[in-house]
Amino acid sequence: MTLNSKDTLVPAQPNTLLQKFQEDVLWGLACNPKKLESKYFYDKEGDVLFQQIMACPDYYLTSCEQEIFQHKTNELAAVITLDSDEFDLIELGVGDASKSQYLLEYLAVRKVPFTYMPIDISAHILAILKTRLQKDIPQLEVMPLHGEYFDMLSKAFSLSIRRKVVMFLGANIGNMSIAEAGRFCIALRAHLNPGDLVLIGFDLKKHPQTILNAYNDRSGITAKFNLNLLKRINRELEGNFDLAHFEHYQNYDPGTGACKSYLVSLDDQKVTVSGHEILFRRNETIYMEVSQKYTPEEITGLAESTGFTSVDRSLDSKNWFLDAFFRAV
Ligand code: AVI
Repeated sequence: MTLNSKDTLVPAQPNTLLQKFQEDVLWGLACNPKKLESKYFYDKEGDVLFQQIMACPDYYLTSCEQEIFQHKTNELAAVITLDSDEFDLIELGVGDASKSQYLLEYLAVRKVPFTYMPIDISAHILAILKTRLQKDIPQLEVMPLHGEYFDMLSKAFSLSIRRKVVMFLGANIGNMSIAEAGRFCIALRAHLNPGDLVLIGFDLKKHPQTILNAYNDRSGITAKFNLNLLKRINRELEGNFDLAHFEHYQNYDPGTGACKSYLVSLDDQKVTVSGHEILFRRNETIYMEVSQKYTPEEITGLAESTGFTSVDRSLDSKNWFLDAFFRAV
């Protein structure tokens, strides 16, 4: 089936997205302890900061997964093309697709019949990506879908009845608690047909200092990345956070595998967001993000408890990162 890529950028409703952002921020800051959702890190400036994080030597995750996609492309492609029919290769939270591009090229060059459907909440990222992919891999059929993951996954099924291969790379699943990851996999399974494949990137448990260093970089980019969400709130939600009065704090618990980031209020202070006053005590924290680490056994357990079987996996040479194939049962 040929799909017309000119008609494919599905616009999300800007007002609805802004309203949801406002609701989530006001709700999170009314919680005790206060929290914000890390999915909102990725505005234009957040996208640039995340690129800088990925280029940071201490942030090993990107290079490890890149190594898998660059040097084990044939292994990944073999699992995906085991069923020989046409398919849609869907990527959730695509970023710059620098890793998946190896796989896309590999499949496109071999004339494997598939459509690439990147899904992202950043329209900016999708627009840049589409232009780049059209230039780099002209024969690739690209259909960007702008919006929330599951809305766009449903959209993908309405656009084509082909089998689905869904990629969720970059340890994005780590930005959910273990319970949330379980619920996410169950929801993902509910959006798929039996036999459909999922390829998920997991950061593995390793020396605790290696993990902490990845999120506590000396150049302070991760701190800026967290603080940028306050800047975004100031700009988009008429907030008045004074960034100089908040500090980034990172913590890793090897027992649970949870690496968590916080912003700490350096003073007693009052902040206004969308006309709502929020009080902070000195040393009070805003919980910003979890980056959950797994063992290979925990990954198999996640698959089996959520309606999948764990069918294959690829690791980098240091055994720090694992891309796991789950098949929907
Ligand atoms: C996108 N995600 C997998 C990153 C991570 O490693 O949790 C986000 C990040 N936060 C701070 N550094 C990177």
